Amino acid sequence: MGKKIKRIGILTAGGDSPGLNAAIRGVGKTALGYYGMEIIGFRDGFRGLVENRRLKLDKHTLAGILTVGGTILGTSRDKPHRMVIDGRTRDMTEVIKENYKKWGLDCIVCLGGGGTQKNALRLHQAGLNVITLPKTIDNDVAMTDSTFGFATALDIATDTLDRLHSTAHSHHRIIVAEIMGHRAGWLTLGAGIAGGADVILIPEIPYDVEKISGAIKRRSRNGTNFSIVAVAEGAMSRDDARALLAAEKKLERAKNLHDKKEAKNELAALDVRHAGNTMRLAKQLEELTHLESRVTILGYVQRGGTPCAADRVLATRLGSACADLINEEHYGVMVAARGDGTEPVPLEKVAGKRKMVPIDHSWVKTARRVGTCLGD
Ligand code: F6P
Repeated sequence: MGKKIKRIGILTAGGDSPGLNAAIRGVGKTALGYYGMEIIGFRDGFRGLVENRRLKLDKHTLAGILTVGGTILGTSRDKPHRMVIDGRTRDMTEVIKENYKKWGLDCIVCLGGGGTQKNALRLHQAGLNVITLPKTIDNDVAMTDSTFGFATALDIATDTLDRLHSTAHSHHRIIVAEIMGHRAGWLTLGAGIAGGADVILIPEIPYDVEKISGAIKRRSRNGTNFSIVAVAEGAMSRDDARALLAAEKKLERAKNLHDKKEAKNELAALDVRHAGNTMRLAKQLEELTHLESRVTILGYVQRGGTPCAADRVLATRLGSACADLINEEHYGVMVAARGDGTEPVPLEKVAGKRKMVPIDHSWVKTARRVGTCLGD
C-alpha cells in the first residue's frame, strides 16, 4: 500500500509583515510540487481554523504572490484559548481540534511572531502537530538569527531617516522619528545606524533626556544645528523604566485581588503615558535645546508593501525547510534561521521568550563608536 498523502493547513497570525506571502509560497510550492502533499490555507489567523474559513492553495493561488505585501490569507491577533465569539471570550481549543480532524490535517503551519509561537505551543500541547515560522518586523522572536519582515522594515525606516535629514538640515530642527518596536529595539537600532541618526533610543537602554539634549547642544556648538533622533515606540526614560519595573514586581508579589488590581492600574497608567512618549520627548528637547522640534511617526508604512530581496530569500528558505520537516514528521518546532541554514527548535524553547538587544551587542558598540548618543 502507498504512503498516505500528507495534508497540511497553514495560517498567518499576529501583525502582518513583508515576506508572509513569500513564506506561504515557499511552504506551498515545496509541499505540493516537491513532496506531492496537499495544503489548505485558513483565513485570518486562528479564527479561520475555528470558523472553517479556507482558501484553496494550489499552483494557481501560489503563483505571483512572492512580491506581494501583507498576507493573502489575512491575519488576526485572535488566540485559540481566548477568542471572542458572539461577544463572549471562549476557549476554542476543542473546536480547533475537531476541525483539524475534520479536514484530515497531518500538521498545521503557523506563521507569526512571539504571540503566535505561544499559541502554537498550546495547540501542540493539546495534541496537534504544529510547525511555526518566525515573522515580525521587530526581529524579536527568540532562538532564531532573524525573522522575515525585519529586513524590509529596516530598509523602509532607513530610507525615511535619509529623507528626514534634508528637511531637518534645511530648517535647523530636531526631528524625532518614531520607529516600530514596542519591546525590542532592533529596528530602531539598525535603521538608526544605517540612516546615521544622531541619537538612537531603544527599550533596552532607558534614556536620560538631559544626556540627549547635551549631545544635541554639543552638535550645535560644533556648528551642526540639526539632529535626527530615532526612537523606538517602546523606548522610555529612566524614571518610567523604574516605575514599570516596580509595577511589574508589585503585580508579581500581589497576594490578593485588591493588590493585583492596583498593580494592573499602575501598569495601565504607564501604558497610556507611554503612548505619548515621543511627543513629550520632542517637547522636552525643544525646551532644553531651544531648537525647533518635529515628530514623524513611521507607523504602518514600515509593515506595508513588497518584501525586499533578503526577506524573500529568508521566507522562501524557511518555508521550504518547513515542508522538509513535515515530510520527516518532525513536529512541535519552529523553523529557525541559523547562519546560511535552518534549524528546528522545540516550541517550548521559543514560546514566552523575547530576543532583546543585548546592551553589549556589536550594533550597540558600533553606534557608540561612531559617536551616536544612546541616551544613557
Ligand atoms: O509586532 C510588530 C509590531 O509592528 C510592533 O512593532 C507594533 O507595536 C505592533 O506590531 C502594532 O501592531 P498592531 O497595531 O497591528 O497591533
